[in-house]
Amino acid sequence: MNNIADAKQFEPIEEALSAVGYQVGFGNEFETEAVAGALPKGQNSPQRVPLGLYSELVTGAAFYAPRHLNRRSYTFRIRPSIMSAEFEPLDNVEFRTPPLDVPSHPGRLRWGPLSQDGEPADFLEGLTTLCGGGSPSLHAGLAVHFFRANRSMENRAFSNADGEFLILPQQGDLRIVTEFGVLEVEPSELVLIPRGVKFRVELKGAFARGLVIENYGHPWILPELGLIGSNGLANAIDFQAPVAHFEDEEVRTEVVHKHGGKLWSAYIDHSPFDVVAWRGSLTPFKYDMRKFVAIGSTTLDHPDPSIFCALASPAHEVSGCNADFMILPPRWLVGDHTLHLPGFHRNSVTEITSIMGGLPVINGVDLNGSVAVTNHWCPHGPDAATFEAKREASDSPEHINDLLLIMVETRYPLEFTRAAIDMKMGTPATHGGSAGYRKRFPNG
Ligand SMILES: [Fe+2]
Repeated sequence: MNNIADAKQFEPIEEALSAVGYQVGFGNEFETEAVAGALPKGQNSPQRVPLGLYSELVTGAAFYAPRHLNRRSYTFRIRPSIMSAEFEPLDNVEFRTPPLDVPSHPGRLRWGPLSQDGEPADFLEGLTTLCGGGSPSLHAGLAVHFFRANRSMENRAFSNADGEFLILPQQGDLRIVTEFGVLEVEPSELVLIPRGVKFRVELKGAFARGLVIENYGHPWILPELGLIGSNGLANAIDFQAPVAHFEDEEVRTEVVHKHGGKLWSAYIDHSPFDVVAWRGSLTPFKYDMRKFVAIGSTTLDHPDPSIFCALASPAHEVSGCNADFMILPPRWLVGDHTLHLPGFHRNSVTEITSIMGGLPVINGVDLNGSVAVTNHWCPHGPDAATFEAKREASDSPEHINDLLLIMVETRYPLEFTRAAIDMKMGTPATHGGSAGYRKRFPNG
């Protein structure tokens, strides 16, 4: 694979030659060049771009979007992206877009972690949709997909006009090559790929699995902090953007593009990862969820789970978000005469939760990587045995060790795929410990 090291006529930049470099700060204005002098000075569309590159703009927001929400970058690349064969439809029966096969369900559904068994599949081939709601054509809603891969994407790139990809590896390290540079990712890190940006997922081991949240709505932003103040939750400085890194390769490459709920395929005769320099605010990011600064009550009771919001896709201030992405990291639980558990509740938003890691294996059962979906206003809470144990437990401070949970909330009810229902763990009727709660009234 060619990169800066092969461009001997240029003076290489040390950072690009090292393993992987990053720039930091969510929503920042960045500029980066893999070859000294590749960035035009003082303008973005010079008559002749340095080094014979092409200037190409990628936008992620309306041209007139407010400055703090505007996202766009100029890429300076070896060839313009317009060079492509015609797109042809591509089948991928398990990577789906709403409307889905199975209507929205009012009970809880849960899936165990994906096994390592299965046909050879790269990241794209191994995407299996669980659930979704809304519509990419209406820029509303989301879908949740499992991914399971046992080989790297080779001579293949993917981009998505329907939604942003929030990739959550749960097992196996990844090297994600994007037009904007390379992200080295491990479980407990998340990756955010903007709409329309090409990327390729490589495995660093034999197997990888995890989740993908495909956001059809407002691009992810950091939530406002309100009375929390100017620090806390996911700090902007902890988001890492790649530095420019390019491949100057003449190799037949398939570009798979998702558009209108369908996959499309076209071929080009060179690597699409040929951006030698770029400048702007639209970029992929990675973020280490272990850096999340959790905030909670120090007196009694539980704040709403919105206190764990790391990324927000706003929609409506009353009926709810398009999507909120929450991180529940290892942390202290404190509170006088307070149940050290989330209590029983019914919420106006749908919840998707997943155990990313840190849960002890009990009786040979490993639920790390499992996912639960609770549609809106579906009652849920602790099972009877757990509730009884916590009801009698000391209210002394308690540390949650290692356990890393994520949760996504959305205002939309979620439908399911047939494939997801067929591999469902448990049944809606029996899951969730819906029996066994003691009646204590009126004696307490
Ligand atoms: Fe809940």
